[in-house]
Amino acid sequence: MDARLLSHVISNRHFCFLILVSFFLLNCLEEFSCEAQIIPEDEVQALKQISIKLNVVYWKNVNQKSCRSGELNLNTDKFGSNEGNIEVVCDCSYNSSTICHITNIQLKRLQLTGELPDDFANLPFLRELDLNVNYLSGSIPKAWKVLPLVNLSLLANNINGLIPKEIADIVTLEYLVLTDNQLEGPLPPELGKLTKLKTLAISGNNFTGALPATFANLKNMVDFRIAGTSISGNIPDFFGNWTQLNELDIRGTSMEGTIPSTIFHLKNLTKLRVSDLKGPDMPFPNFQDMNRMSQLELRNCLIKGSIPSNIGEMMPRLVRLDLSFNRLTGDIHNLQEIPNLKYLYLTNNQLTGQIPLWITNAKQNFDLSYNNFIGPSQSGCQDSNLNKISSYPSDEDRSIAWCLKKDLPCSTTSKYSSFFINCGGSEMAIGDEKYDADVSPMGPSSFYSYNDKWACSTTGDFIVPLLKGKPNYLAQASPNLTVTDLYRTARISPLSLKYYGICLRPGNYKVKLHFAEIMFPIDKIASGIGTRIFDVSIQGKRYLKDFNIEEEAKGVGKSIIKEYDVDVTSSSTLEIHLYWAGKGTIFIPSDFAYGPLISAIAVTPNFVPDTGHISVGVIAGIVAASFVLIILIMSILWKKGYLGKEDLEDKELRELLQTSYFSLREVKAATKNFDRANKIGEGGFGPVYKGLRPDGSLIAVKQLSAMSKQGNREFVNEIGIISALQHPNLVKLFGCCVEGNQLLVIYEYMENNSLARALYGHADQRLNLDWPTRFRICMDIAKGLVYLHEESRLKIVHRDIKATNVLLDKDFTARISDFGMARLDEEEKTHISTRVVGTL
Ligand SMILES: *[C@@H]1O[C@H](CO)[C@@H](O)[C@H](O)[C@H]1NC(C)=O
Ligand SMILES: *[C@@H]1O[C@H](CO)[C@@H](O)[C@H](O)[C@H]1NC(C)=O
Ligand SMILES: *[C@@H]1O[C@H](CO)[C@@H](O)[C@H](O)[C@H]1NC(C)=O
Ligand SMILES: *[C@@H]1O[C@H](CO)[C@@H](O)[C@H](O)[C@H]1NC(C)=O
Ligand SMILES: *[C@@H]1O[C@H](CO)[C@@H](O)[C@H](O)[C@H]1NC(C)=O
Ligand SMILES: *[C@@H]1O[C@H](CO)[C@@H](O)[C@H](O)[C@H]1NC(C)=O
Repeated sequence: MDARLLSHVISNRHFCFLILVSFFLLNCLEEFSCEAQIIPEDEVQALKQISIKLNVVYWKNVNQKSCRSGELNLNTDKFGSNEGNIEVVCDCSYNSSTICHITNIQLKRLQLTGELPDDFANLPFLRELDLNVNYLSGSIPKAWKVLPLVNLSLLANNINGLIPKEIADIVTLEYLVLTDNQLEGPLPPELGKLTKLKTLAISGNNFTGALPATFANLKNMVDFRIAGTSISGNIPDFFGNWTQLNELDIRGTSMEGTIPSTIFHLKNLTKLRVSDLKGPDMPFPNFQDMNRMSQLELRNCLIKGSIPSNIGEMMPRLVRLDLSFNRLTGDIHNLQEIPNLKYLYLTNNQLTGQIPLWITNAKQNFDLSYNNFIGPSQSGCQDSNLNKISSYPSDEDRSIAWCLKKDLPCSTTSKYSSFFINCGGSEMAIGDEKYDADVSPMGPSSFYSYNDKWACSTTGDFIVPLLKGKPNYLAQASPNLTVTDLYRTARISPLSLKYYGICLRPGNYKVKLHFAEIMFPIDKIASGIGTRIFDVSIQGKRYLKDFNIEEEAKGVGKSIIKEYDVDVTSSSTLEIHLYWAGKGTIFIPSDFAYGPLISAIAVTPNFVPDTGHISVGVIAGIVAASFVLIILIMSILWKKGYLGKEDLEDKELRELLQTSYFSLREVKAATKNFDRANKIGEGGFGPVYKGLRPDGSLIAVKQLSAMSKQGNREFVNEIGIISALQHPNLVKLFGCCVEGNQLLVIYEYMENNSLARALYGHADQRLNLDWPTRFRICMDIAKGLVYLHEESRLKIVHRDIKATNVLLDKDFTARISDFGMARLDEEEKTHISTRVVGTL
């Protein structure tokens, strides 16, 4: 055949083939009985069931012909953007290309709800199942054990329960990702059978118990992550036998002991993350063999010793080095340059010497704060991305004052006695308090100061973002979330966030920390998804460990205020530290959202500030008003013979004067102008209202019968006596207000109203108190009375104990209230009138 003929035949053949294919296709489209390639009916039914159970609304019309092209024909119009991702793949090469089987299913970021269905088990050729980032709940179905899965990924859902041991029957598994769910309990030792496993990522769950010894068999492991779980026991030696290991993340677990040195001989390791080990101390590891390491985090691991100057030579590919919160010592001025380093965290060690020039000049995110370096300081304390707060001993040159240890600068004298910060938000007036704006973007190594009043420092970058985007250290509530203004914004940090009050007068302060979870999804179906856990310390003392805002505030968008009394010494500095110890979820809501979050800070003195320096009219007015009030109380108390005797000691006198003053405007705003709807009770001498303060806290306001003689006496009694007493079973006084003809006493709000209402109220108000609770209430009242009669320095007889005067808080702790009738018990008096003087 010559060439022309050949080409003619070929093109003719080609033509024939096309005709044939077209005919075949048309035929198939017309009829159901397309013999050529079908999905077995079982699998079609399984897909339909799954679509119903998971609410996959855009995936309804699955039929046997859909798989002809090798991919199911899905209506994915809704997902033109990168919002979600549906992919269902079938393989049509079975039975001489006559049968298609579903082999891969990916349903990612689709807000799918419902429990994980067993029905996937009816897809017997399924090799990949990826349901990442949805709201799926329930436990992992045991029925799945029959599947030939290679990849199973359920990252960032709401799946609970134990890992069923049946999962270990899926011997084909190479990639098992269960990160960021609500799984718990011990890991089944059977998982040690999965010898093909290359990735086991189960961080962000609450697994307990030790790692099973059978895991020593998982010698093909490449990527192993158990961060933020409660897994305990020693860090196992068998990690050292996992020679293929590239990545190991064991941050924030409950494991103990030191890191086995064999881990540092794993030549393939590129990412090693360990944090918050309980001890004992460990020497600085030998990184000689780890020349592939790019991200090394050994944070808060009690590492002692000094950093070898050739660490960059040992690990030339280092991009991120985090050795913060250890006990490193030694001079670093000889530290050789690490060429690719972008993030360096050496904060909170005891490193000394001069800071090398390559660090100062690098303009990278290097945090050297809290060390003992010596001068000369080449630049300020925060120079581009170099944070050097508190990194020089205090005897250094004052020109670098911000870098000085424990002695943040005061340009003049200690002049402030309060400060208010709207973290992550703009300036905001709440009542008479002005919350300062805090909108500096900050970053992995940043410092910012608001005049010489307060300052903020952040350390750490958000690693492993799931979606691309710019990490933000400021959080903003979605417009859908109903939260009061103060909580609309917040500041977050992926590692460590510090706020400082500066130039504060020495004394005891009340620190109020305002929190509300505003980053997690708010839909009802998504409730419980995501866990944020962090620690809070003030002045170096830890007050909150494993703090979970959502849990404590009982929901997303709900606020919670934590209050502490702390001392500020002559250093004039107050330090509030929020720290992420590696716990909680990271990929929810698939963005940069983990680590400590705080909405606002309010710091007020627990002493009467010296008014001399304050010139602002409003403040002076308030102070003057309270002063007049105090004089009034004092003179009346004195007239009545309560004072002038020997018993009142200095301390009590001080406490007596501590009551804070509320303006009438503030009280009216809180109670919606004494709205009837807010009335929660009627005391002997006037109504009691519930009030909501702009910061979200609740108060109870007692309105004493305006300016009656009785009212006056009650008021003075009440303020005078309660403000001097503090006991868990006495109601807490927040303050008072005298304006116009109003006499108001402001208490803490008691969620469960009075004992009278709980026992004898209207049927709908009555509470079903069980006997243990009733007993506890009796004990509480008794404790309160013992305190009044015997333990407090002012001996007091209440004279009006009755069920209406016993209030119950949310935990049913009883507190005695209403001291209008109370009398001081003078010691020499042996006879006390037992006449009931109150109203019954
Ligand atoms: C496909 O082939 C397998 C084994 O070769 C056989 O068991 C199965 O029944 C066949 N399926 C159909 C639908 O013919
Ligand atoms: C499993 O996941 C890996 C990584 O995402 C991918 O490369 C591989 O192709 C997947 N295997 C199967 C069988 O889907
Ligand atoms: C984890 O589980 C333990 C034991 O079941 C429990 O005490 C702890 O509160 C749980 N932690 C979280 C964060 O759920
Ligand atoms: C590590 O492997 C070696 C050699 O195979 C073996 O002798 C040793 O027991 C293993 N160590 C652990 C902790 O499994
Ligand atoms: C580990 O290192 C060896 C030798 O360089 C290499 O051949 C192998 O592919 C690496 N394994 C992994 C899982 O990266
Ligand atoms: C807010 O509500 C609207 C309408 O109800 C909804 O379409 C949107 O997805 C919601 N946004 C968020 C962030 O929940």
